[in-house]
Amino acid sequence: MNNSIEPKDGALIRAALLASANAYAPYSGFAVGAAVRTRAGAIHTGANLENASYGLGFCAEVSAIAVANAAGAFDIEAIAVVGHKFTVPSDASQIVTPCGRCRQLIFEASQLSGTDIRVLSCSGDLARVSVATISALLPDAFGPANLGLTEVWPGMRTALQGRVRALTPPSNPHR
Ligand code: THU
Repeated sequence: MNNSIEPKDGALIRAALLASANAYAPYSGFAVGAAVRTRAGAIHTGANLENASYGLGFCAEVSAIAVANAAGAFDIEAIAVVGHKFTVPSDASQIVTPCGRCRQLIFEASQLSGTDIRVLSCSGDLARVSVATISALLPDAFGPANLGLTEVWPGMRTALQGRVRALTPPSNPHR
């Protein structure tokens, strides 16, 4: 079921909570961890990354999606988000749902993978988990399919990888 917790979601939620320990969040005092799972079952995590120039901060979801992308694992099927205000430890009961920008990033991944990504929004104490698909969280979204890119991108990626291989010098262990 798209809207209920599945057995393998437990590890994803736990990974998101653990990642929140690495949040760099001195400005908000609000730590967020995110974990994405690919269709092959790999998990990649991220945490929010704030900045003295406030508007430049990254959400945890951005970090996790960027980490998965850098690992060549963009075929995401689920993402868990866990947040808590660590400066007020008693307040860990609030469910954290992805912001609008993060929903758009998750939607991009969903159109490329052909999977309506399940989003597990969790409170810091994990007592509450809200499960929804990205199409429910961002209805009528605009994405790569509108630009005809979902069919084109796999071939572009193959070409890119060939190009990088061609540019890569042979390794020489004696140099
Ligand atoms: N934040 C996230 O990382 N993900 C969310 O889903 C909600 C908000 C971050 C942004 C900022 O660093 C802090 O939480 C407070 O908004």
